Amino acid sequence: MTAGQATPKRNVRTRRIAFSYPPGTLDRHYVQGDLVMSHIVAVLSALFPEGEDFFIRSVRRYSDRITDPELKSQVAGFIGQEVTHGREHRALNDRLRQMGYPTRMVDRFTHYLLADHGITSGRFRLAVTAALEHYTATIAECLLTKPEAQELLGETEVRSVLLWHALEESEHKAVAFEVYRAIGGTERQRIAVMRLVNALFIPIVLILTTISLAGDRSAYNPVRLVRSLARLRHSPFLTREMVAHVRAYNRPGFHPDDFDATALLERWKAELFGKDGRLTDHLK
Ligand SMILES: [Fe+2]
Ligand SMILES: [Fe+2]
Repeated sequence: MTAGQATPKRNVRTRRIAFSYPPGTLDRHYVQGDLVMSHIVAVLSALFPEGEDFFIRSVRRYSDRITDPELKSQVAGFIGQEVTHGREHRALNDRLRQMGYPTRMVDRFTHYLLADHGITSGRFRLAVTAALEHYTATIAECLLTKPEAQELLGETEVRSVLLWHALEESEHKAVAFEVYRAIGGTERQRIAVMRLVNALFIPIVLILTTISLAGDRSAYNPVRLVRSLARLRHSPFLTREMVAHVRAYNRPGFHPDDFDATALLERWKAELFGKDGRLTDHLK
């Protein structure tokens, strides 16, 4: 869609939901006992609340310039969903911190990194938001599509919170992108910003994961560490297909809906929130 065209209909609604992690329900390495994956998921979870606050600020800045009622309503849904994600991930991060993960350090770092230091424009920050939303949608749709990715997460409440988050990331994946276009964001800047995000995002996650592992005594067991790293090489999240999905964003004319997730979303909405959905009892 270009500026001035009507926004396609999308169902982006805020669910009132809560998750809980009573003491004793999560092992130290809560991702199926896997050392490295437990630290990676903890780092990602710790990045979310400040990241999502940044997304909300970036989009909200332009909300009064959106005139299309469909896009306006999607923006409201997007903000409501991201506020809830931030709140629920803070609750998980508190639990992870009690278990020994440095989630507060990651949170403070992200807060500083994404603060408005007065050197970037609103449109630049919106382009960063659209780029990072492409990352979250790529990871989310991998999780929702691949049974082996779901299996990796075991059967804990962490799996539940991540499945719900993934569903909503896929539901609202085009919203920041559409706002960027609606305010006249250019393809050139969109792609240049994604190149910058590509150069920073993976190294930042790697460095934070290394710091997180350094604080875990189990990581000093070389056999355990090497086995866990070896498993990572076969991870469903680290495939050529995933790299291609991320890279697709750099094509001029790209739109998040190029990856049609309609059927995937219908299936997961029924599975999680249908009549006998796995998470229906989590709704408030
Ligand atoms: Fe989110
Ligand atoms: Fe999002």
